[in-house]
Amino acid sequence: MCGIVGFTGNKPASPILLDGLEKLEYRGYDSAGIAVLNDNKIKTAKTTERIRNLFEKTDNGKTVPGSIGIGHTRWATHGGPSTTNAHPHLSGDAKFAVVHNGIIENYVELKEELISEGVEFASETDTEVVPRLLEKYYKGDLLDAVCQVVKKLDGSFALGIICTDYPETLVAAKKFSPLIIGKGKGENYIASDVTALISHTRDVVYLEDDTVAVLTKNDINLYDYNKNEVAVKVSHINWDIAAAEKGGYDYFMMKEMCEEPRAIRQTIEPRIKDGEVVLEDISLDKEALRKINRISIVACGSAYHAGIVGKYVMEEMLRIPVDVDLASEYRYRNPITDSKTLTIIISQSGETADTLAALNEAKQRGSRVLSIVNVVGSSIAKASDDVIYTWAGPEIAVATTKGYTTQLSVLYLFAIWAAKTLGTVDDKTLSEITNSLKNVPNAIDRVLDQKDKIREMAKHSVDSQSLFFIGRNIDYAVSLEASLKLKEISYIHSEAYAAGELKHGTISLIEEGRTVIALACQTDLYDKMLSNIKEVRARGAYVVACANEGETGVAAEAEEVIYIPRVHKFLRAAVEIIPFQLYAYYVAELKGLDIDKPRNLAKSVTVE
Ligand code: G6P
Repeated sequence: MCGIVGFTGNKPASPILLDGLEKLEYRGYDSAGIAVLNDNKIKTAKTTERIRNLFEKTDNGKTVPGSIGIGHTRWATHGGPSTTNAHPHLSGDAKFAVVHNGIIENYVELKEELISEGVEFASETDTEVVPRLLEKYYKGDLLDAVCQVVKKLDGSFALGIICTDYPETLVAAKKFSPLIIGKGKGENYIASDVTALISHTRDVVYLEDDTVAVLTKNDINLYDYNKNEVAVKVSHINWDIAAAEKGGYDYFMMKEMCEEPRAIRQTIEPRIKDGEVVLEDISLDKEALRKINRISIVACGSAYHAGIVGKYVMEEMLRIPVDVDLASEYRYRNPITDSKTLTIIISQSGETADTLAALNEAKQRGSRVLSIVNVVGSSIAKASDDVIYTWAGPEIAVATTKGYTTQLSVLYLFAIWAAKTLGTVDDKTLSEITNSLKNVPNAIDRVLDQKDKIREMAKHSVDSQSLFFIGRNIDYAVSLEASLKLKEISYIHSEAYAAGELKHGTISLIEEGRTVIALACQTDLYDKMLSNIKEVRARGAYVVACANEGETGVAAEAEEVIYIPRVHKFLRAAVEIIPFQLYAYYVAELKGLDIDKPRNLAKSVTVE
């Protein structure tokens, strides 16, 4: 979703802005632009193509000279993708240029007011009201004008602003949308996330909501909306540059799948001490946990699917009822929650607007909030009572892989820790599960070794119109994620079904040659799954099965079988999803699609 970069310093700004925008491409966008200030004038360059096109259009930035500027990748919401709607947007007098991420909910009202005063708008965007309002309120003091304008805006925004009267000053403001400041030596930056900054600096300031930042090349000053100064807190980022770059892989998604064993090790190993799970990062203790009589998991997309796995595992291990909600539904359905409910929020980016709103809803109703987040310092992390970070490193491909499996890993850690704390599972079983968890990365490595076989199998689905994933219990939860992966990047329709439910309607869609991917990794339900496989096969389905190593009986019932190494039954989802991340990847690759940036999707969905 929209990305912002900004620079002020002594070097040419354009190459830095273009490079930053390229790093933010993964967030998803349909147009982009930069604005650079030089000799008292702001010059812009925009495209509705890839950032590469902006490099070409501007001769690698040379035609847009100047050492202060802002850039933007736009994911269209108000007005279609076009160069007119692309940011940066200018004021009528061309004194101000503005980039914006978020949605200004009262823009119609603001726009009408300005139109009645004679302002003519150039674009269909909500953003354009900002430079127009700046022009109206500016009386020679930039900070004063920005403070007056942001007070008038409802909704969410991260803003980057330059003004011709201030040839070295970059202004930023934030409310609900992500924005960070990069502190360099004799230069300063703004960006939507760290991936655009780490090649320049690892010292960052996480901007709080309702804050305005005024940057020059040597100074960073923060203010509230009443121009009172706010303290600047600099944090250091440990992610390295290599982690945010492709490192020889064709696509980030392949790189990130190959990183899954390492990411899971990083997430679990420091939290297992002397064979026991230790969660030092959280303040939730035995007393508080004992008071909890319900767990409510809230998330979007793959994080929601991780939550469904969490439900199966936690209900079994803790004997506490667990609900799983889509954040976009939760926030508008008058949810029932209280101080006895533990709300677990799951989000890779920590910035998903629906998830953040659901978190606030739960908190307002008295629930304690524990979040599972990858991006340190993100809005969700900051708003939660407790955070358990997934230590997956930066995830760039839009379709999540290591983000999802590290979320599962944290859910497993939490379930083991809570079962021990509450005494709901005996020590011997807990130690078996914990040992098996340590073995998950090795098991994943062995699935990754089957890449070539899975690529061969994927050929069968390249021309499919539609296919089905079926499974029971945790296998069903994994089916949901496997189906989503395929839809996201290969654009093939697929549906995930609880295998036992198929006969209540959907089996009418099974016909000769229809591919059904049957996940049969839950040993207790293996025989039931074999019966379901027989049902679809009898109706002509082409069955691809997934089973535990050693359960070879399924081979007689399926056209193809993928075997996964055995881990404890509660932990299987993290291993079982890998073949289907690979399957989706290879189908998309064979179709020649842009795997890392699937159409219409965004990595970090910061609007509703
Ligand atoms: C977007 C992404 C999905 C992701 C979902 C939730 O839709 O395309 O891959 O699962 O957001 O993201 P989060 O950052 O909250 O985990």
